[in-house]
Amino acid sequence: MKPLTVVSNRLPVTVGETIEKSSGGMVAALEGLGENADFQWIGWAGGAVKDPDRKKEIASELKERFNYTPIFLSRKDADDYYTGFSNSSLWPLLHYMPTKARYEERWFDAYRRVNRLFADTVLEKTGEDDIVWIQDYHLMLLPAMLREKRPKMTIGYFLHTPFPSYEIFRCHPDREELLEGLLGADLIGFHTFGYLRHFRSTVLRLLGIESEFNVIHTDTHQTAIGVFPIGINAEKFLEGMKTEAYREAKNTLQRANTGKKVVLSVERLDYTKGVPRRLDAIERFLNETGRTDVSFIFVCVPSRESVPEYQELRRSVELKVSRINGKHSALGEIPVHFIHRQVAFEELCALYCLADVATVTPLMDGMNLVAKEYLLCQQEEPGALVLSEFAGAAQELNNAYVVNPYNVKEISNALQLALDASEKEKRQRLEPMKQRVAKYDARFWAQSFLDSLSDLPRETPEPTEIRPLSAEGLHPSLAGKNAALFLDYDGTLAELKKRPVDAAPVGEVEEILSLLDRQEDLDVYLVGGRARRDMDRWFSKYRFHLVAEHGYCVKEKDAEDWVVLTPEADLSWKDQILDFLELYAGMTPGSFLEEKTASVVWHYAGADPEFGAWKAQQLVSSLQEMLSNLPVQIHHGKKIVEIASVHANKGAAVSYFMTKYRYEAVLCAGDDETDEAMFRLSDDRLRSAKVGAGETAAAFRCPSPKAFRAFLHALLTSYSTGG
Ligand code: UDP
Ligand code: G6P
Repeated sequence: MKPLTVVSNRLPVTVGETIEKSSGGMVAALEGLGENADFQWIGWAGGAVKDPDRKKEIASELKERFNYTPIFLSRKDADDYYTGFSNSSLWPLLHYMPTKARYEERWFDAYRRVNRLFADTVLEKTGEDDIVWIQDYHLMLLPAMLREKRPKMTIGYFLHTPFPSYEIFRCHPDREELLEGLLGADLIGFHTFGYLRHFRSTVLRLLGIESEFNVIHTDTHQTAIGVFPIGINAEKFLEGMKTEAYREAKNTLQRANTGKKVVLSVERLDYTKGVPRRLDAIERFLNETGRTDVSFIFVCVPSRESVPEYQELRRSVELKVSRINGKHSALGEIPVHFIHRQVAFEELCALYCLADVATVTPLMDGMNLVAKEYLLCQQEEPGALVLSEFAGAAQELNNAYVVNPYNVKEISNALQLALDASEKEKRQRLEPMKQRVAKYDARFWAQSFLDSLSDLPRETPEPTEIRPLSAEGLHPSLAGKNAALFLDYDGTLAELKKRPVDAAPVGEVEEILSLLDRQEDLDVYLVGGRARRDMDRWFSKYRFHLVAEHGYCVKEKDAEDWVVLTPEADLSWKDQILDFLELYAGMTPGSFLEEKTASVVWHYAGADPEFGAWKAQQLVSSLQEMLSNLPVQIHHGKKIVEIASVHANKGAAVSYFMTKYRYEAVLCAGDDETDEAMFRLSDDRLRSAKVGAGETAAAFRCPSPKAFRAFLHALLTSYSTGG
């Protein structure tokens, strides 16, 4: 296995007077992977250590004992990057709480700066061949920062929180940069399919990048996306339950709760966890039932106390707890036990084992490990789990008592059902879930993510298919011959634009056209789908042959006028469909119609991407019915639906010129369905190249217009030097 570097905001250690390793599931899962000797972890050591000697001491101890590399943050960076950007902007937004999210420009500056600091450290500590696996929302910019410096590095990224719907994520002022940062990874993992679906839709809507179901292609790179629900460190809990400390904790608990049912809550004291609503439900339960035989134990671990929202939450929880206890306590009996600190691991195991019911009711939670840990620790009497439908875990644990955490009455009812369920029912619900959490544990999660990352087809900038298209490859078959190039424009020589008028030749595109124009020994044809006026406006200054409307009409390089290649074509169908198409354009804001001589095109690149695609499908199927007996072809291309005469096609135009000028060698290139008519011509003199992804009859492929221009540049340079 290749060397593995895990990068997370925090190192899994607590640095105090001594250094203790934390016990999170991720640590055990990752470190256990194939007993990989080449494993390191990079992350923040927590706090703000100022003294340079102390920093050195910490770094060397972490290196020696665990092979960890600490990152030290100044107080200001910790405030702005961790408390500010990560936990006051991103965290609430990722959990669907935009009204809690706050934004400060300086926070994003710090976030960028700290992500850059992580990038520099990773680059220093890794080699070209290492696998780097980045964890969570604190480091969203890191994948692209690493990719920029090491294009071939294997980079995985896992988001431990939800990814919210586009409508929420779009609120973030820095949304595009965050997404672009993530897309530097080779693989992005989510806990659930819902989060993955939201991510795809957000990338489409904010960056305009369409994705396949499991991969997102950008111009320069491709990012796979996958679902990997995290599991728990099952082994560690089962081991913990064999210790003496566990037995002692269990005895203490049993003694304290004799004759009582125990309802357990365990979480960081975080506003996403739904503690206040749960307390309201408990109050309702106590008011309605008057039961005195239930003990509610809350383990609320202090968390992010520098963030004002967490301070407020603490106040409101404490108030609610004291109100309930004030009303429902009797001498020697307190219904709600509020523990506001970490508990020892063995105590946690004992609580999990003894609790009759666990209430896990977050308002939103990426996964929630507590629910899974509770199930695994049910090794004696079967207990019951009340689980929020908004926890990622609910996707897997559908035998729980699943509740809407905003519905106080529903939680209270579920609590009663769970407390009163028969042993048989509890066991029936529990066993399949327990088996599942034992099997799909943290190690399984880590291994399956890393396997997927290693199995990805490695991107090579020039796929093998394209090698013959290289300048050296193609040059001999064209050089010294009566040769011609038939080149499509939009999507082939120039990048596709939302509005066709924006694709005018400028910059690199103009340069390549000028270079083509200077070729004395080569005939160049621009074979477009555009109308004659567009072709004239942009290309008449060059010495190119022009083919417009997918081959319907042509203008040779020295000719004054356009000639229709198929004057016999019947175009009467156009009038029949124009009104219908107008209606579609009107109903789809951002779309418009373009009328050419032998075709009509509906452009929907400016429409809402999902609505546009949906309307396009509707349109195509209506047109297929309406036009089934007419001499037309319906072409659903990249953000267009074109209805054109069957008599016009690029293949016929290429054939016409190959015969007329007796070319000995021809290269044709294009990017979409209309170009396939050229590629399908069967002629030994012809070479064909598809630009971009997708099925094709072409013999060669080139990944993008940019790469195609580079290829042409190399080819034409060797041509003009006679090399
Ligand atoms: N936990 C802990 N000490 C405690 C209480 C809880 O270490 O006193 C652990 C618990 O075992 C679980 C984690 O904290 O593994 C909480 O993870 P979860 O996914 O439920 O929520 P998160 O805190 O990640 O939002
Ligand atoms: C969540 C996040 C983790 C984070 C943990 C504790 O689980 O997804 O990335 O480490 O909470 O939060 P803290 O701010 O204390 O690191």
